[in-house]
Amino acid sequence: MGTGASRNPDSSSHGSEEREDQAGGQLYVSLKMENCKLKEELAPHVYGSVPLVGSWDSSKALPMERESTSMWELSFVVPPNHETLDFKFLLKPKYSNGPCLVEEGPNRQLTGGTLQGDRPSATFKLSDDAVLEYRVFIKADRVSPFDLAASWRAYQENFQPSSVRGIPDVSINSAAEASNENGSSASLELDLEHYVVPAPTTSANSGLVYAANMTETPRSLSRRGVFSKTDGSSGALHYQRDTGVSVDRPDLTPMEVTVPDAAKISSGSGLVESKSVGTFSPVQKQEGHRGLFVDRGVGSPRLVKSASATTFFVDLKLDSESKNSMPAAAGAVAAAAVADQMLGPKEDRHLAIVLVGLPARGKTFTAAKLTRYLRWLGHDTKHFNVGKYRRLKHGVNQSADFFRGDNPEGLEARNEVAALAMEDMISWMQEGGQVGIFDATNSTRKRRNMLMKMAEGKCKIIFLETLCNDRQIIERNIRLKVQQSPDYAEEPDFEAGYHDFKVRLENYEKVYEPVDEGSYIKMIDMVSGHGGQIQVNNISGYLPGRIVFFLVNTHLTPRPILLTRHGESLDNVRGRIGGDSVISDSGELYAKKLANFVEKRLKNERAASIWTSTLQRTILTASPIVGFPKIQWRALDEINAGVCDGMTYEEIKKNMPEEYESRKKDKLRYRYPRGESYLDVIQRLEPVIIELERQRAPVVVISHQAVLRALYAYFADRPLKEVPHIEMPLHTIIEIQMGVTGVQEKRYKLM
Ligand code: F6P
Repeated sequence: MGTGASRNPDSSSHGSEEREDQAGGQLYVSLKMENCKLKEELAPHVYGSVPLVGSWDSSKALPMERESTSMWELSFVVPPNHETLDFKFLLKPKYSNGPCLVEEGPNRQLTGGTLQGDRPSATFKLSDDAVLEYRVFIKADRVSPFDLAASWRAYQENFQPSSVRGIPDVSINSAAEASNENGSSASLELDLEHYVVPAPTTSANSGLVYAANMTETPRSLSRRGVFSKTDGSSGALHYQRDTGVSVDRPDLTPMEVTVPDAAKISSGSGLVESKSVGTFSPVQKQEGHRGLFVDRGVGSPRLVKSASATTFFVDLKLDSESKNSMPAAAGAVAAAAVADQMLGPKEDRHLAIVLVGLPARGKTFTAAKLTRYLRWLGHDTKHFNVGKYRRLKHGVNQSADFFRGDNPEGLEARNEVAALAMEDMISWMQEGGQVGIFDATNSTRKRRNMLMKMAEGKCKIIFLETLCNDRQIIERNIRLKVQQSPDYAEEPDFEAGYHDFKVRLENYEKVYEPVDEGSYIKMIDMVSGHGGQIQVNNISGYLPGRIVFFLVNTHLTPRPILLTRHGESLDNVRGRIGGDSVISDSGELYAKKLANFVEKRLKNERAASIWTSTLQRTILTASPIVGFPKIQWRALDEINAGVCDGMTYEEIKKNMPEEYESRKKDKLRYRYPRGESYLDVIQRLEPVIIELERQRAPVVVISHQAVLRALYAYFADRPLKEVPHIEMPLHTIIEIQMGVTGVQEKRYKLM
């Protein structure tokens, strides 16, 4: 049977080589067999002539890989000069050495990419009167390396039937059904603590640190040499509480003191051509080479001349981390920034969110959350906490008297530190900072007037007032404050600290004037996430609108969010990126373990939901989980690798070295040709974050590596530039506990 090696008759001719070169590609062959009533004991194979297998020996036949429950596939690139192939499908018994079943009929022959004869099925004779029939899909194309990847994707989209496509976007499976289908997942006993592994050191554990400590380091104070007195004292204003503990000590822990980074002061900027992704690049002005470069994502950007280009070269700087590069933003964020540069008044380019509210109203927590959200979206944002300035300048032990409205010395000292913080914030904005969150009580009109004066012509101010009438929440916040704030770190007696703080609060209440001036957002009883009110006055523009939207949806009700990648997929096994393959045996085992984990972890929760992407590997991973609603989100789909979808990293490196290098250089901004960048992924995940913030019940998110990196970075407040490099292992659950004071992380490695 068969003819052995088949060579293209012209293959040795010069002409053929030329054709090959001109075409610049190779023959890419994809063979698929499908049968919905598969006989599990028979494994589909292909065998045939050189170079397919090199022998018609059935023991050397190539196994086809399972793509879904009913589809098997084998694809390969034919080496040059071997343009004629003949082959057959065969079925090998999996569990015995019994004879192979070879398909009926003549050999299948592919010559120069064209299939001879049209046989859309392969028939195997089981016995004299029983046959087994498979649908076959054979495709051969001459493709460039670039198209090779694209055609791979096309095959997957066109021919691969999905075993999960029938599942509606929202579904719920009952316990009985699932245990029949998936075997007894309950038999996989899990002691959750047994699977805990350490979280990375820079993990999402802000809930363990007092939020104000994580705010900006007061640079004006360190510059002014507050700590440089020869006697080592700080010049602190002492309205000391009688703690019984000596307070003559350095005012602050070392982590609160740093010297400003002079290098952060920006020079004049302009836009020049930039490779790879993004939109605009603020770098040195280049005379005679002005224009607005719009980058399609990869390769050479197209130059778009703009009459007003010079106007908005100045100051376009969204990414303070990487000067001389493109803004750390994509999509709506970049578009809005550019529009503001072109159209908005200059002071509108910088936004100050000035908190207003009595102590213990959750101002600092709200400010920290807002900072994290805006940074994650790509807005250069910093949180300035006046309390931190006060502690730096005056020590940590002011008594409640210091905060009396009729104490001129205390008032002056407080106004002074507020002015220093505001000065720092404005200087940072003038260096290119975009949004400053100014965190203090700012509880009188006089104080707010002072801030407005300082901001005149420099930045736009929006007051964000937090009002809370719920005694229980206020009580909880007071207790947290006494436990966590450095103000009470040296107070050994909780009750004494509690009493002092209550008096401080009363002092503020006596002089408190609610905001009714300028632009403002008032959050009234919004902390718990049910009910409450938000009032806005004189708010317009992209960013303020987005901030209001975020604040409407956010709350501080504790609940867990579980993040996990899908179980190992067949593409993971093959080292191929993207695609829509099913999960491997090991992936299936993880799916069962995960179901068991979720059942145990969430057994005391009244409600929870499971979110997946629309790709099979996440849906299949979720399928053994029972009793919770499952929701498919397109936004949770893996990063779109465009023409590289379905390739291995090695193939990309070999066939598209420039693309490979561009991504290596700037993985955050690099956009796959016809695909996405990490920045794009972040943009499309914004609704997911908003919904995660809004949910009051636990959520299990089953998604993909790049997407989970982006989501995790939000909770862990990791800088954008780190996002593409965050470790996101398979078969591991990251539990984010959303709490009142921030988030905490725990990891479980199930396999
Ligand atoms: O390899 C698995 C995978 O999820 C791919 O589908 C995806 O392209 C890739 O990870 C994302 O990771 P990276 O950005 O490091 O390539």
